[in-house]
Amino acid sequence: MRRWQQKTALSVLFCFSAVSGATALAADKPGHGNKQMGESAQKVIANPNGMEKVNGVKTLQDYIVQEKELFDYLFQNHPVFKYQEEGRLIGMYKVSDRGEEYMDQGNGQKYSKRVGRPSAVQYRLAAKSILDFPNKFVGPEKCGECHAVQYEKWQRSRHAKTIRFPGEHPEVDNDLKKKLYGSDASILPDGVTPDAIYATVGTPRTKYGFIDSYLVRGSYHIEGGLLKDGTGTMVAGGNQFSRGWAEWLTPEMAKKIQKVIPDFPTKMEDFGASGSHQWGMTSYGAKYKKEFLFQPASSYCEVCHSFKFDFKNKQEYLDALGDPKKLQEHTISRGIACEECHGAGGHLDGGNGGGMPSNCERCHQRFNYVDELAETEQGKEKLEYAFNVKMKSSCPSCGTEGSQMFMSSHYDKGMRCSTCHDPHEVTGNDWKSGYTKPAIKKDCVDCHQVQAEMAANTSTHAKNSCTSCHMPNMGSCENFTAIQYPDMAGFDAVRKSHLWKIDVSPDRKTLNPPEGQPRKSTTKGWTVAQDENGHGYLDLMWTCARTSISDHDVVERKGCHSQFQSELSKGLHFKDQKEIYGKVMKWQTPVKDSLAKVEDALKRIDRKVAKNKLSIEDKTQVLLLTDKAREIVEFVRKDGSWGVHAPRYARKRMDAATTYVTQAEAIADGKGTKTASL
Ligand code: HEC
Ligand code: HEC
Ligand code: HEC
Ligand code: HEC
Ligand code: HEC
Ligand code: HEC
Ligand code: HEC
Repeated sequence: MRRWQQKTALSVLFCFSAVSGATALAADKPGHGNKQMGESAQKVIANPNGMEKVNGVKTLQDYIVQEKELFDYLFQNHPVFKYQEEGRLIGMYKVSDRGEEYMDQGNGQKYSKRVGRPSAVQYRLAAKSILDFPNKFVGPEKCGECHAVQYEKWQRSRHAKTIRFPGEHPEVDNDLKKKLYGSDASILPDGVTPDAIYATVGTPRTKYGFIDSYLVRGSYHIEGGLLKDGTGTMVAGGNQFSRGWAEWLTPEMAKKIQKVIPDFPTKMEDFGASGSHQWGMTSYGAKYKKEFLFQPASSYCEVCHSFKFDFKNKQEYLDALGDPKKLQEHTISRGIACEECHGAGGHLDGGNGGGMPSNCERCHQRFNYVDELAETEQGKEKLEYAFNVKMKSSCPSCGTEGSQMFMSSHYDKGMRCSTCHDPHEVTGNDWKSGYTKPAIKKDCVDCHQVQAEMAANTSTHAKNSCTSCHMPNMGSCENFTAIQYPDMAGFDAVRKSHLWKIDVSPDRKTLNPPEGQPRKSTTKGWTVAQDENGHGYLDLMWTCARTSISDHDVVERKGCHSQFQSELSKGLHFKDQKEIYGKVMKWQTPVKDSLAKVEDALKRIDRKVAKNKLSIEDKTQVLLLTDKAREIVEFVRKDGSWGVHAPRYARKRMDAATTYVTQAEAIADGKGTKTASL
């Protein structure tokens, strides 16, 4: 067993998604250490301009106003404020409401200013939220009464497991305080016991969060006491368990990386405010001991890690807050269950679904508006060009599959998530696994038959699948700023990219800071690069040489070319993009050169056939040979990898084409022999 305590502690920074970048917060700003909603929400509440009063339909502003009553209640009753009043609070809270999440996040204010109307940028609210009472949810078991097949597929998925009550955690034998992977950390942080929470969020693949008994995000832990008794001290951060940190990023690995990257952190203090006092536990939605979000689930977690209650009215709901048992008993639907996609009550008589009122993008398409992109040629022509991918420091955030895909030719051609994904069986492997393997109903090779045929003829990457190169893990769910080195294609990459296109270049990069700014993960405003067609692309480091402990393609393929993970021979551990480019050129240049030569020859031969008087036999021979050569040219062109998919085979095919045109040209020149064999 590893003995972590005796080693230099390495902490890894966790996602503090919505905490502002500023280290010092002005305590007099609304919601910063005081019981007020944020500025944006207050503005809307003072002067609402929604539709609900007009025709009963809720629009953005109505959803923001809807939270006020809840905040009034929480400001009076949530334990945070008691700890604060009694001087037992370490770190300042920052109120985070729907105004902040919808109107501010993703540079919403900048977009709104440009277009002159308020707008949400980062994500959308569900048609129904936990604050809607009564609602028409019936729960997935009711849908399963008639739709057993969809129910079976769904209940095995992480969509079904993401919100779980204590007692539903087989991965830790239902012991939420069990220390995991030899670390000091457990699913629930210090001072937080299973009877003090509503639910955990997440599965063993990356990280766990918790939602407290007032349905507020758990962005804190308790020192020297228990949350359920209101004893001890409430401390900002130290609130989220990370599997990657606890299990994979060992001190040995960190030191190995440091040998190559001198400023790679190996000690707890190098990780800044996202560390904690415990190996494997990070500060998420918080800066350790400094600040933390006070964020009810209604404004954030519940939008995507959903749950719905069967309370008859809002008062019943407010009365149940603080009583986790009661909240659990009244939960009628949780996780991404049937009605989150098909609408409350679905098509059932009296329901308000009927078809598909919500799609995957609601939760998987986080955008980020970039004002600088609006100023470009493309942005001026089409403002949606300025909608880039929500980043976690310098890597794409998890849940950005939709914003990545938005800049792909797959999207342009009308493909959507469920073109490839089975919407019910989103998890193809065991949900307790550390790897993500969604069930795919339409595979790459179902559409890309030419590439499949080419790739079937290689021994070089024979054990790889298309995703090995075209869908590297690049996304961060965790925001470990201190270990994000995009130019080294590591080390906080836990989610598959959805860009697909590979850009073969010695220096162009997928992820870039604003022009002129240093290429450091602490630089603000990183974006995903777009080519001249507005498409995103992968650079060669991410494609070939990424370091990702949760990328099953890398792990199952001997670490690919990562210099930290690779089990291949030393010469195949790639250190930088130029080196990879050189290798790719060795494959592509001969293929491209001989293709150009063959195409030239074909044109020449065409002219000669038209000019020279050939016998019928000779002409037939020439046409047969040139047709064969053309087939090969077309095959290689259509494949589009110029040899990467099957280096030797592509060369062999081009050699054959060269032979055909040489022979054809000889015949066309009148020098051929009639015995030329095909
Ligand atoms: C009493 C049985 C029954 C229940 C309960 C039921 N359905 Fe259906 N559902 C059907 C039938 C019958 C069809 C149409 C034929 C088919 O697809 O099998 C259908 C079709 C559908 C379709 C296909 C689209 C369409 O409109 O034809 C969806 C989606 C669907 N149901 C979702 C749901 C959801 C979500 C729930 C729970 C809120 C639910 N169903 C509850 C019987 C039921
Ligand atoms: C905009 C939608 C959205 C919101 C809001 C959101 N999440 Fe997530 N979250 C996701 C998606 C999508 C994933 C899965 C990422 C993926 O595979 O791309 C995820 C993943 C996670 C995971 C990792 C689960 C695992 O099995 O690895 C945890 C834990 C988590 N979220 C916690 C939270 C908590 C706690 C909140 C509220 C503070 C929250 N999330 C708010 C969309 C969201
Ligand atoms: C993540 C969103 C999502 C969830 C959750 C979901 N569905 Fe669906 N469902 C879809 C989509 C999208 C389709 C359309 C078919 C497709 O694209 O493959 C669909 C299709 C269906 C159909 C039509 C037949 C079929 O299989 O295509 C039925 C019936 C259905 N769903 C029932 C359910 C039931 C019951 C549940 C809960 C156990 C459920 N769905 C959960 C998105 C979802
Ligand atoms: C209501 C929000 C929501 C909607 C709608 C939604 N998802 Fe998800 N999805 C999530 C969250 C949250 C997770 C992460 C769950 C976890 O790991 O705890 C997730 C995880 C996934 C995963 C990873 C599963 C795994 O085993 O790791 C896939 C694939 C996925 N979603 C596909 C889809 C598709 C396809 C659709 C549309 C048909 C869809 N999702 C609609 C919120 C949503
Ligand atoms: C062209 C096919 C295709 C399309 C379109 C597509 N995906 Fe995927 N997606 C995949 C494949 C393939 C994987 C990886 C499967 C594997 O690793 O075994 C994947 C993985 C994922 C994962 C798991 C990420 C991780 O590593 O944890 C999520 C979540 C996901 N997709 C959501 C979406 C959503 C949401 C959309 C629509 C915006 C979408 N996908 C569109 C093919 C597709
Ligand atoms: C439903 C069919 C379909 C599936 C499934 C599919 N593709 Fe595609 N793919 C297309 C189409 C159509 C295009 C656009 C072709 C064009 O523009 O000429 C495309 C384009 C591409 C491109 C070129 C990108 C660009 O921007 O020029 C790549 C790379 C690619 N696909 C890889 C994949 C991979 C890898 C998978 C599996 C994860 C996959 N595709 C699955 C249909 C599909
Ligand atoms: C060893 C890594 C690797 C594997 C495995 C791989 N590809 Fe590629 N593929 C590439 C590279 C690199 C390029 C880009 C070549 C260029 O643009 O110069 C490419 C190009 C493509 C293109 C053409 C894109 C365009 O811009 O026109 C498609 C489509 C594609 N691949 C699909 C696939 C499919 C489908 C598979 C699985 C059968 C696959 N690839 C397997 C590396 C790979």
